[in-house]
Amino acid sequence: MKLLVTGGAGFIGSAVVRQAVAQGHEVVNLDALTYAACLDNVASVADSPLYSFEQADIRDAAAVEACLARHAPDAVMHLAAESHVDRSIDGPGVFIETNVMGTYNLLQSARALWERKGRPESFRFHHISTDEVFGSLPADPEVQFTEDTPYDPRSPYSASKASSDHLVRAWHETYGLPVVLTNCSNNYGPYHFPEKLIPVIILNALAGKSLPIYGDGSNVRDWLYVEDHADALLTVLGRGAVGRSYNIGGENERSNLELVETLCAILDRLRPRADGASYTAQITFVTDRPGHDARYAIDPTRIRTELGWRPSVTIEEGLERTVRWYLDNEAWWRPLQSRDGVGTRIGTKA
Ligand SMILES: NC(=O)c1ccc[n+]([C@@H]2O[C@H](COP(=O)([O-])OP(=O)(O)OC[C@H]3O[C@@H](n4cnc5c(N)ncnc54)[C@H](O)[C@@H]3O)[C@@H](O)[C@H]2O)c1
Repeated sequence: MKLLVTGGAGFIGSAVVRQAVAQGHEVVNLDALTYAACLDNVASVADSPLYSFEQADIRDAAAVEACLARHAPDAVMHLAAESHVDRSIDGPGVFIETNVMGTYNLLQSARALWERKGRPESFRFHHISTDEVFGSLPADPEVQFTEDTPYDPRSPYSASKASSDHLVRAWHETYGLPVVLTNCSNNYGPYHFPEKLIPVIILNALAGKSLPIYGDGSNVRDWLYVEDHADALLTVLGRGAVGRSYNIGGENERSNLELVETLCAILDRLRPRADGASYTAQITFVTDRPGHDARYAIDPTRIRTELGWRPSVTIEEGLERTVRWYLDNEAWWRPLQSRDGVGTRIGTKA
């Protein structure tokens, strides 16, 4: 199958590109190369005859149209997005432009291509979204997000992703475009851009800096190893029902404080501090994010029962693999730390 993957130089998109090429798919990686991109993420497949790269901005309708017309893919996997909640608080405009208007441009070009091809039922527009569109859950472990949970986004980021989800459903209902949607919980793993919580904690720990935890650290997230997410996405692309959405979760709920303490314990073992103290001594509680959602948790019943998919990596194993990866790959993360906005506290303006 020939796939056009948007955002393939980012964290999750690059995992999809690497796995799709490994599975024998032809892959066109369309990416604008924003501050969050790194082509090193796909270096392992860059020389494959199955792989090609197109630098294009999904805000540019003509560029998107030309790229889809030139490559005529069998499926589009749409991951390109502005993805950092804190940045969306300080500068929501680009989130609307990329996540909403960019998705609209891509839908229009995909629809035109699909119609030129004769409206094949096998065509797919796979929209990759987040569980954050569902809002915030109470602490009760019995309550989880299902695919039928009403949308209730509370940050500029999640509102822009919710908008894009609605557009994708509308293009299916109105024009018949064969779409699938996925809403996933928090990802972690190798190549995670060093402005997100887990890499920030690992890299600050190693640098002897404070380990910032928003509020009291009680916010709960459901963590999924990125390679498992990529595997789930390719599963949904191949076998998901047209017009259907699938929630993808890690079945690993942790509070932010528990998560940071686990990372400290792994680092204490793998790279003990010179003074013998635990890295937990570096934990500091900082002003909370405005509108910080209390809890996200995925009910994975649909993807498990309909597609037989479950995550393969436990959080203990995934976090250990992740810490080892950052210890071994300073040449990847060090240059990214000097990119605009990385390493400074943002998202408190509200
Ligand atoms: N990270 C998570 O935990 C998570 C969880 C669920 C869903 N998602 C969704 O998965 C997708 C990928 O997330 P990620 O964490 O890999 O993001 P990321 O920020 O690491 O990567 C985003 C990629 O999109 C590209 N991009 C941004 N704006 C673009 C534009 N205008 N035109 C073309 N390319 C552009 C960037 O250059 C970058 O390579 C996003 O749609 C996000 O909403 C992420």
